[in-house]
Amino acid sequence: MAEQATDDLKARIERARVPEHVAIIMDGNGRWAQLHGEHRIVGHANGVRSVREALTGATEIGVRYLTLYAFSTENWNRPKEEVDALMDLLVKTVVDEITELQENSVRLNAIGDLDSLPTACRATLDDAIASTAKNERITLTLALSYSSRWEITRMVRSIAAEVKAGTLDPEKIDERTVAQHLCTHNIPDPELLIRTSGELRISNFLLWQIAYAELWFTPVLWPDFRKQHLFEAVLDYQGRERRFGKTSEQITAS
Ligand code: FPP
Repeated sequence: MAEQATDDLKARIERARVPEHVAIIMDGNGRWAQLHGEHRIVGHANGVRSVREALTGATEIGVRYLTLYAFSTENWNRPKEEVDALMDLLVKTVVDEITELQENSVRLNAIGDLDSLPTACRATLDDAIASTAKNERITLTLALSYSSRWEITRMVRSIAAEVKAGTLDPEKIDERTVAQHLCTHNIPDPELLIRTSGELRISNFLLWQIAYAELWFTPVLWPDFRKQHLFEAVLDYQGRERRFGKTSEQITAS
C-alpha cells in the first residue's frame, strides 16, 4: 500500500480511543515461505520486518502495550532445525534492534516458561529487558515458550502453595488474585487481539486475559503484515460497540 494511503488510515484513527493493549498471534510464516519457494526459516526471517512495522505503527498511534506470540509451548515440537533457527533469530533480532528500542523508549518484556529457553537466548533477553526497564513509551511483550494452559496451571500451583503455607485465605481468592498470579500481572488485558494468516483460532494464547478483547482476523500472512493492517484493525475496533455484558442502551446512556 502507498505510504499516503497508510497515512490516511492513520489519520482516521481516533487517538482518545486507541486500545491501550494490542496482542498479535503472528501466523503464516511457513505458508509465506512455501509460496515464495523458500525454506520455512526464510519466512520467519521475513517476519522480523513485520514485527518492526507492528511496533512502530503501534507506537505512532499511542498503543501502550504490544504483545506478540513469538513461540508457543507447542512450537517445541517442530523440527529441531527450525526451533534452533527461531531461537537464533530471536537473539539476533534483539541484539540488532536494541539501539532502536532505546531510541524509541520501548520497554522489552517477556512472558512464558523462560527457563526453558537456551542459555544464550535467555541471557540476551534478560540483558535487553534490564537495559530497557526504564523506557516508558510502549511495552513490547514477547510470549516465548508460552501457552495459556501452562500459565493457568502455574497460577493454580502458586495459589495452592500460598494457601498451603497459610499466607492466603481460600475464601479471599477472587479474579484479582488470579490475575496477579499470571505472567501478565503487570500489564493490562488486551482490548484488541489480531491473528494473521486466515486461521480463526486462539491457539492457547492469553485465554484469561482476552475475556473481553475484540478479535480481528486477516488473511494476510505475517511476513506481509504492515502498519496499514494494524491501522485497519484499530479502525475496525473503534467502529465496534463494547458492551461488557450490558445492553446497548446502557452503554449509550453512560
Ligand atoms: C508462525 O508462523 C510464526 C512463528 C511460530 C514464529 C514467529 C516468529 C517471528 C515472526 C520471528 C521473529 C520474532 C521476534 C519476536 C524477533 P508458522 O510458522 O506457524 O506459519 P505456518 O502456519 O504458515 O506454518
